[in-house]
Amino acid sequence: MTEYHVPVLLAECLEALNLQDGKIYVDATFGGGGHSQKILESGKDLKLFGVDQDPDSIEQSKVLTEKYPDNFVMIKENFANIRTGLALERIKKVDGILFDLGVSSHQINDPSRGFSFRGDGDLNMRMDQTSELTAADVVNTYSFEQLARIFREYGEEKEAARIANNIILERSKKEIKTTLQLSTIIENCIISKKSIKAKARIFQALRIYINKEMEALKSALNDSIKILNPGGKIVVISYHSLEDRIVKNIFKYEEKSCICPPEFPLCVCDKVSTLKIITRKPVVPTLNEIGNNPRARSAKLRIAQKREEI
Ligand SMILES: C[S@@+](CC[C@H](N)C(=O)[O-])C[C@H]1O[C@@H](n2cnc3c(N)ncnc32)[C@H](O)[C@@H]1O
Repeated sequence: MTEYHVPVLLAECLEALNLQDGKIYVDATFGGGGHSQKILESGKDLKLFGVDQDPDSIEQSKVLTEKYPDNFVMIKENFANIRTGLALERIKKVDGILFDLGVSSHQINDPSRGFSFRGDGDLNMRMDQTSELTAADVVNTYSFEQLARIFREYGEEKEAARIANNIILERSKKEIKTTLQLSTIIENCIISKKSIKAKARIFQALRIYINKEMEALKSALNDSIKILNPGGKIVVISYHSLEDRIVKNIFKYEEKSCICPPEFPLCVCDKVSTLKIITRKPVVPTLNEIGNNPRARSAKLRIAQKREEI
Protein backbone atom coordinates (compact mmCIF):
# COMPACT_ATOMS: atom_id res chain seq x y z
CA MET A 1 0.00 0.00 0.00
CA THR A 2 1.29 3.47 -0.81
CA GLU A 3 1.75 5.09 2.55
CA TYR A 4 0.95 8.65 1.54
CA HIS A 5 -0.85 9.46 4.73
CA VAL A 6 1.47 9.57 7.75
CA PRO A 7 -0.72 8.60 10.72
CA VAL A 8 -0.94 11.39 13.29
CA LEU A 9 -0.19 10.54 16.98
CA LEU A 10 0.20 6.91 15.94
CA ALA A 11 1.98 5.52 19.01
CA GLU A 12 -0.46 7.29 21.33
CA CYS A 13 -3.49 5.95 19.42
CA LEU A 14 -2.16 2.37 19.37
CA GLU A 15 -1.36 2.47 23.06
CA ALA A 16 -4.83 3.82 23.86
CA LEU A 17 -6.60 1.20 21.75
CA ASN A 18 -4.74 -1.59 23.61
CA LEU A 19 -4.95 -4.02 20.66
CA GLN A 20 -5.64 -7.61 21.69
CA ASP A 21 -6.26 -10.95 19.98
CA GLY A 22 -9.90 -11.75 19.36
CA LYS A 23 -11.13 -8.17 19.89
CA ILE A 24 -12.97 -5.90 17.47
CA TYR A 25 -11.82 -2.38 16.55
CA VAL A 26 -13.13 0.38 14.29
CA ASP A 27 -11.16 2.99 12.36
CA ALA A 28 -14.08 5.36 11.80
CA THR A 29 -12.06 7.67 9.52
CA PHE A 30 -10.08 5.32 7.27
CA GLY A 31 -8.76 8.11 4.98
CA GLY A 32 -5.54 6.88 3.39
CA GLY A 33 -5.49 3.90 5.75
CA GLY A 34 -2.45 5.06 7.73
CA HIS A 35 -3.78 4.10 11.17
CA SER A 36 -5.59 0.99 9.88
CA GLN A 37 -2.45 -0.32 8.25
CA LYS A 38 -0.51 -0.03 11.50
CA ILE A 39 -3.32 -1.66 13.50
CA LEU A 40 -3.29 -4.61 11.11
CA GLU A 41 0.51 -4.79 11.18
CA SER A 42 0.42 -5.14 14.97
CA GLY A 43 0.37 -8.90 14.43
CA LYS A 44 -2.66 -9.34 16.71
CA ASP A 45 -5.41 -11.65 15.53
CA LEU A 46 -8.04 -8.94 15.74
CA LYS A 47 -10.89 -7.76 13.56
CA LEU A 48 -10.77 -4.21 12.19
CA PHE A 49 -13.62 -2.37 10.48
CA GLY A 50 -12.59 0.66 8.43
CA VAL A 51 -15.23 3.34 7.79
CA ASP A 52 -15.12 6.29 5.38
CA GLN A 53 -17.68 8.11 3.30
CA ASP A 54 -15.21 9.01 0.56
CA PRO A 55 -15.17 6.66 -2.45
CA ASP A 56 -11.43 7.37 -2.89
CA SER A 57 -10.82 5.88 0.57
CA ILE A 58 -12.83 2.80 -0.36
CA GLU A 59 -10.54 2.39 -3.36
CA GLN A 60 -7.48 2.85 -1.13
CA SER A 61 -8.73 0.21 1.31
CA LYS A 62 -8.71 -2.59 -1.27
CA VAL A 63 -5.03 -3.32 -0.69
CA LEU A 64 -5.71 -3.98 2.99
CA THR A 65 -8.85 -6.03 2.26
CA GLU A 66 -6.77 -8.26 -0.03
CA LYS A 67 -3.83 -8.50 2.34
CA TYR A 68 -5.86 -9.15 5.50
CA PRO A 69 -9.03 -10.93 4.29
CA ASP A 70 -9.72 -12.47 7.73
CA ASN A 71 -8.99 -9.37 9.76
CA PHE A 72 -10.17 -6.34 7.80
CA VAL A 73 -13.52 -5.17 6.43
CA MET A 74 -14.17 -1.77 4.84
CA ILE A 75 -17.54 -0.04 5.15
CA LYS A 76 -18.55 2.92 2.98
CA GLU A 77 -20.65 4.96 5.34
CA ASN A 78 -20.92 8.31 7.02
CA PHE A 79 -19.65 7.74 10.54
CA ALA A 80 -22.90 9.30 11.80
CA ASN A 81 -24.38 5.91 10.81
CA ILE A 82 -21.60 3.84 12.35
CA ARG A 83 -23.99 1.70 14.36
CA THR A 84 -26.11 0.74 11.35
CA GLY A 85 -23.03 0.17 9.20
CA LEU A 86 -21.63 -2.26 11.76
CA ALA A 87 -25.01 -3.90 12.39
CA LEU A 88 -25.16 -4.76 8.68
CA GLU A 89 -21.89 -6.64 9.26
CA ARG A 90 -23.59 -8.35 12.26
CA ILE A 91 -21.47 -6.41 14.74
CA LYS A 92 -23.24 -4.98 17.78
CA LYS A 93 -20.34 -4.35 20.18
CA VAL A 94 -16.71 -3.36 19.66
CA ASP A 95 -13.61 -2.96 21.83
CA GLY A 96 -12.11 0.27 20.52
CA ILE A 97 -12.99 3.08 18.12
CA LEU A 98 -10.63 5.58 16.53
CA PHE A 99 -11.59 8.90 14.93
CA ASP A 100 -8.97 10.97 13.10
CA LEU A 101 -11.20 13.83 12.03
CA GLY A 102 -11.12 16.27 9.14
CA VAL A 103 -9.79 15.86 5.64
CA SER A 104 -7.11 13.45 4.49
CA SER A 105 -3.94 14.61 2.71
CA HIS A 106 -5.32 12.87 -0.36
CA GLN A 107 -8.45 15.03 -0.30
CA ILE A 108 -6.60 18.27 0.41
CA ASN A 109 -3.86 17.62 -2.17
CA ASP A 110 -6.28 16.92 -5.01
CA PRO A 111 -7.34 20.36 -6.36
CA SER A 112 -10.33 18.83 -8.16
CA ARG A 113 -11.94 18.06 -4.76
CA GLY A 114 -12.08 21.80 -4.02
CA PHE A 115 -10.93 21.58 -0.37
CA SER A 116 -7.85 23.74 -0.71
CA PHE A 117 -7.47 27.43 -1.46
CA ARG A 118 -3.92 26.78 -2.63
CA GLY A 119 -4.73 25.02 -5.90
CA ASP A 120 -7.49 25.70 -8.40
CA GLY A 121 -10.45 23.39 -8.87
CA ASP A 122 -14.22 23.21 -8.76
CA LEU A 123 -15.71 24.66 -5.60
CA ASN A 124 -16.92 21.25 -4.50
CA MET A 125 -15.80 20.19 -0.95
CA ARG A 126 -18.06 17.14 -0.66
CA MET A 127 -16.37 14.27 1.16
CA ASP A 128 -19.13 11.97 -0.02
CA GLN A 129 -19.37 12.85 -3.69
CA THR A 130 -22.84 11.34 -3.93
CA SER A 131 -24.26 13.97 -1.57
CA GLU A 132 -26.01 16.89 -3.26
CA LEU A 133 -24.89 20.21 -1.85
CA THR A 134 -21.56 21.64 -3.04
CA ALA A 135 -19.65 24.67 -1.77
CA ALA A 136 -20.46 26.40 -5.08
CA ASP A 137 -24.21 25.97 -4.38
CA VAL A 138 -23.79 27.62 -1.00
CA VAL A 139 -21.60 30.47 -2.20
CA ASN A 140 -23.84 31.27 -5.18
CA THR A 141 -27.29 30.91 -3.65
CA TYR A 142 -27.21 31.57 0.11
CA SER A 143 -28.23 34.96 1.50
CA PHE A 144 -25.80 37.42 3.06
CA GLU A 145 -27.05 36.47 6.55
CA GLN A 146 -26.67 32.73 5.91
CA LEU A 147 -23.14 33.11 4.54
CA ALA A 148 -22.01 35.40 7.35
CA ARG A 149 -23.42 32.98 9.94
CA ILE A 150 -21.61 29.98 8.39
CA PHE A 151 -18.32 31.91 8.30
CA ARG A 152 -18.74 33.10 11.90
CA GLU A 153 -19.98 29.85 13.36
CA TYR A 154 -17.76 27.31 11.60
CA GLY A 155 -14.77 29.48 10.72
CA GLU A 156 -14.78 31.78 13.77
CA GLU A 157 -13.97 34.51 11.22
CA LYS A 158 -14.17 38.08 12.52
CA GLU A 159 -14.53 39.53 9.02
CA ALA A 160 -17.43 37.18 8.19
CA ALA A 161 -19.79 40.01 7.20
CA ARG A 162 -17.26 41.78 5.01
CA ILE A 163 -16.39 38.56 3.16
CA ALA A 164 -20.05 37.55 2.76
CA ASN A 165 -20.77 41.00 1.37
CA ASN A 166 -17.99 40.75 -1.17
CA ILE A 167 -19.19 37.32 -2.26
CA ILE A 168 -22.70 38.69 -2.87
CA LEU A 169 -21.24 41.55 -4.92
CA GLU A 170 -18.94 39.38 -7.03
CA ARG A 171 -21.48 36.64 -7.72
CA SER A 172 -23.87 39.23 -9.16
CA LYS A 173 -21.22 39.85 -11.84
CA LYS A 174 -20.12 36.27 -12.42
CA GLU A 175 -20.98 32.86 -10.94
CA ILE A 176 -18.32 31.70 -8.44
CA LYS A 177 -17.32 28.26 -9.67
CA THR A 178 -13.73 27.71 -8.59
CA THR A 179 -11.58 27.71 -5.47
CA LEU A 180 -9.34 30.32 -7.07
CA GLN A 181 -12.28 32.69 -7.63
CA LEU A 182 -13.35 32.39 -3.99
CA SER A 183 -9.81 32.72 -2.79
CA THR A 184 -9.33 35.93 -4.83
CA ILE A 185 -12.59 37.38 -3.48
CA ILE A 186 -11.39 36.83 0.10
CA GLU A 187 -7.95 38.20 -0.73
CA ASN A 188 -9.46 41.39 -2.19
CA CYS A 189 -11.34 42.34 0.94
CA ILE A 190 -8.89 41.40 3.71
CA ILE A 191 -5.57 43.09 4.38
CA SER A 192 -2.87 40.97 2.86
CA LYS A 193 -1.07 39.78 5.97
CA LYS A 194 -4.33 38.34 7.34
CA SER A 195 -5.67 36.94 4.09
CA ILE A 196 -4.12 33.44 4.26
CA LYS A 197 -5.67 32.79 7.67
CA ALA A 198 -9.01 34.23 6.52
CA LYS A 199 -8.97 31.94 3.48
CA ALA A 200 -8.20 28.93 5.68
CA ARG A 201 -11.10 29.84 8.00
CA ILE A 202 -13.61 30.44 5.20
CA PHE A 203 -12.69 27.21 3.39
CA GLN A 204 -12.88 25.33 6.71
CA ALA A 205 -16.30 26.86 7.46
CA LEU A 206 -17.71 25.86 4.08
CA ARG A 207 -16.30 22.33 4.38
CA ILE A 208 -17.78 21.84 7.85
CA TYR A 209 -21.15 23.15 6.69
CA ILE A 210 -21.31 21.15 3.42
CA ASN A 211 -20.37 17.89 5.11
CA LYS A 212 -22.49 18.53 8.25
CA GLU A 213 -19.34 17.69 10.20
CA MET A 214 -20.45 18.85 13.63
CA GLU A 215 -23.79 17.02 13.50
CA ALA A 216 -22.09 13.84 12.23
CA LEU A 217 -19.47 13.99 14.98
CA LYS A 218 -22.02 14.37 17.79
CA SER A 219 -24.11 11.52 16.52
CA ALA A 220 -21.07 9.28 15.89
CA LEU A 221 -19.64 9.87 19.37
CA ASN A 222 -22.96 9.12 21.06
CA ASP A 223 -23.43 5.93 19.04
CA SER A 224 -19.82 4.86 19.59
CA ILE A 225 -20.25 5.07 23.35
CA LYS A 226 -23.31 2.82 23.07
CA ILE A 227 -21.54 0.12 21.07
CA LEU A 228 -18.33 -0.01 23.11
CA ASN A 229 -17.80 -3.04 25.32
CA PRO A 230 -16.93 -2.28 28.96
CA GLY A 231 -13.27 -1.30 29.17
CA GLY A 232 -13.23 -0.35 25.45
CA LYS A 233 -11.71 2.99 24.44
CA ILE A 234 -12.89 5.82 22.25
CA VAL A 235 -9.92 7.67 20.80
CA VAL A 236 -10.45 10.96 18.97
CA ILE A 237 -7.99 13.24 17.16
CA SER A 238 -9.41 16.64 16.26
CA TYR A 239 -7.84 19.52 14.39
CA HIS A 240 -9.82 22.59 15.38
CA SER A 241 -11.44 24.01 18.46
CA LEU A 242 -15.04 23.39 17.39
CA GLU A 243 -14.46 19.66 17.02
CA ASP A 244 -12.36 19.45 20.16
CA ARG A 245 -15.05 21.23 22.17
CA ILE A 246 -17.69 18.73 21.04
CA VAL A 247 -15.47 15.78 22.01
CA LYS A 248 -14.58 17.36 25.37
CA ASN A 249 -18.20 18.20 26.23
CA ILE A 250 -19.62 14.81 25.25
CA PHE A 251 -16.91 13.01 27.24
CA LYS A 252 -17.56 15.27 30.26
CA TYR A 253 -21.32 14.74 30.11
CA GLU A 254 -20.96 10.97 29.75
CA GLU A 255 -18.60 10.84 32.71
CA LYS A 256 -21.09 12.55 35.05
CA SER A 257 -23.14 10.37 37.36
CA CYS A 258 -25.52 13.18 38.26
CA ILE A 259 -26.90 16.12 36.30
CA CYS A 260 -29.21 17.54 38.97
CA PRO A 261 -28.95 21.31 39.57
CA PRO A 262 -26.44 21.97 42.39
CA GLU A 263 -29.14 23.41 44.66
CA PHE A 264 -31.01 20.05 44.78
CA PRO A 265 -30.43 18.45 48.21
CA LEU A 266 -30.73 14.93 46.76
CA CYS A 267 -30.03 13.41 43.38
CA VAL A 268 -33.26 12.78 41.49
CA CYS A 269 -31.84 12.20 38.03
CA ASP A 270 -31.26 8.74 36.60
CA LYS A 271 -27.99 9.73 34.97
CA VAL A 272 -25.41 6.96 34.88
CA SER A 273 -21.72 7.58 34.22
CA THR A 274 -20.85 5.68 31.04
CA LEU A 275 -17.29 6.90 30.46
CA LYS A 276 -14.09 7.49 32.36
CA ILE A 277 -11.98 10.26 30.83
CA ILE A 278 -8.39 9.10 30.37
CA THR A 279 -6.98 12.41 29.09
CA ARG A 280 -7.99 15.34 31.34
CA LYS A 281 -5.97 17.56 28.99
CA PRO A 282 -5.67 16.65 25.30
CA VAL A 283 -2.49 14.90 24.17
CA VAL A 284 -0.64 16.91 21.52
CA PRO A 285 2.13 15.84 19.12
CA THR A 286 5.78 16.33 20.02
CA LEU A 287 7.79 19.00 18.19
CA ASN A 288 9.61 16.15 16.52
CA GLU A 289 6.36 14.72 15.10
CA ILE A 290 5.25 18.17 13.93
CA GLY A 291 8.64 18.64 12.25
CA ASN A 292 8.22 15.35 10.38
CA ASN A 293 4.52 15.79 9.65
CA PRO A 294 3.27 19.40 9.62
CA ARG A 295 -0.33 18.15 9.32
CA ALA A 296 -0.04 17.04 12.97
CA ARG A 297 0.46 20.69 14.02
CA SER A 298 -3.01 21.35 15.38
CA ALA A 299 -3.89 17.79 16.44
CA LYS A 300 -5.46 17.15 19.84
CA LEU A 301 -6.08 13.65 21.10
CA ARG A 302 -8.73 12.80 23.67
CA ILE A 303 -9.32 9.32 25.07
CA ALA A 304 -12.14 7.92 27.17
CA GLN A 305 -12.93 4.43 28.42
CA LYS A 306 -16.33 2.76 28.65
CA ARG A 307 -17.21 1.91 32.23
CA GLU A 308 -18.10 -1.54 33.38
CA GLU A 309 -21.83 -2.27 33.04
CA ILE A 310 -23.68 -1.36 36.25
C1 LIG B 1 -7.73 12.87 8.51
S1 LIG B 1 -8.40 11.68 7.45
C2 LIG B 1 -8.02 10.17 8.22
C3 LIG B 1 -6.62 9.72 7.94
C4 LIG B 1 -6.34 8.32 8.42
N1 LIG B 1 -6.35 8.21 9.87
C5 LIG B 1 -4.98 7.87 7.91
O1 LIG B 1 -4.06 7.71 8.73
O2 LIG B 1 -4.85 7.68 6.70
C6 LIG B 1 -10.10 11.84 7.77
C7 LIG B 1 -10.98 10.93 6.92
O3 LIG B 1 -12.25 10.92 7.56
C8 LIG B 1 -13.24 10.89 6.58
N2 LIG B 1 -14.44 11.45 7.16
C9 LIG B 1 -14.61 12.71 7.64
N3 LIG B 1 -15.87 12.85 8.07
C10 LIG B 1 -16.49 11.66 7.89
C11 LIG B 1 -17.79 11.18 8.15
N4 LIG B 1 -18.74 11.97 8.68
N5 LIG B 1 -18.08 9.90 7.85
C12 LIG B 1 -17.15 9.08 7.30
N6 LIG B 1 -15.90 9.49 7.01
C13 LIG B 1 -15.57 10.76 7.32
C14 LIG B 1 -12.69 11.72 5.44
O4 LIG B 1 -13.32 11.33 4.23
C15 LIG B 1 -11.21 11.39 5.50
O5 LIG B 1 -10.91 10.38 4.59
